Amino acid sequence: MKALFDKDVIGLNIILIGPPGAGKGTQASLIANKYDIPFVSSGDLFRDHRKLGTELGLLAEKYMNSGQLVPDQVTINMVMDWLAKNNGNNSGFLLDGFPRTVDQATALEKALGDKNSVGPSIYINVDQDQLIIRLTGRRVCMDCQLSFHIHSNPPIHEGKCDKCSATLTQREDDNFDAVRARLDAYKHNTEPLVDYYFKKNVLIEINGNKTIDQVSLDIIESLDRLNVN
Ligand code: AP5
Repeated sequence: MKALFDKDVIGLNIILIGPPGAGKGTQASLIANKYDIPFVSSGDLFRDHRKLGTELGLLAEKYMNSGQLVPDQVTINMVMDWLAKNNGNNSGFLLDGFPRTVDQATALEKALGDKNSVGPSIYINVDQDQLIIRLTGRRVCMDCQLSFHIHSNPPIHEGKCDKCSATLTQREDDNFDAVRARLDAYKHNTEPLVDYYFKKNVLIEINGNKTIDQVSLDIIESLDRLNVN
């Protein structure tokens, strides 16, 4: 197990899995900064395309607003493009929200090849009633994508991003109907990945119902136990 996660031997290829609102985005930058690896959220990549008005952004928008997954091939191409630019020397990465289907998972394995592997796969598990509270109370910075919560993680100055002072808004897919559709899509398409990575012996399950700081500590403690440093 140790060799598998030894950052000096091969890259530390972390995947964050969890239902919408589990706290993947909140934890992603903290983990990636601690282990000094590049990270990306597939949702943020789509939102960047949408902002730029690219063909991909326009295609993704209709799926995202209704809470459905964007088709696999389009998503795989976009993330592989990011990986080619950010993991050229196999030094490791963190992916937030990808893979989200078994086909995406196998495409990632194929891209990494025989000498490199996916893992650890951190599964943030949160009760469904909490997810709805988190998503409907979330506010995001449209400039730097940092996310806040009106109760559990409020910004220092109301309505303004702590990092870049831009205005905070509510995501278009954080309304009740889209949230329900996203939870359904998660159940049908993404939850099977928990078992998939468990069987590959790379799954770390984290109780995401705790405070943000406690979840971070639990993740770091689990990674440290694997001698990731
Ligand atoms: P994406 O942007 O990835 O959305 P998601 O998976 O639904 O996840 P979220 O960003 O909503 O939640 P999160 O887990 O990051 O939670 P956060 O940290 O913000 O994807 C959007 C769409 O893009 C998808 O629906 C799909 O259409 C498309 N897409 C993306 N990837 C795809 C793929 N691979 N394949 C196909 N389609 C894809 O936290 C939520 C809130 O809770 C925040 O307010 C936060 O402050 C608060 N919070 C966080 N942690 C805690 C805590 N421990 N206690 C209390 N509050 C907390």
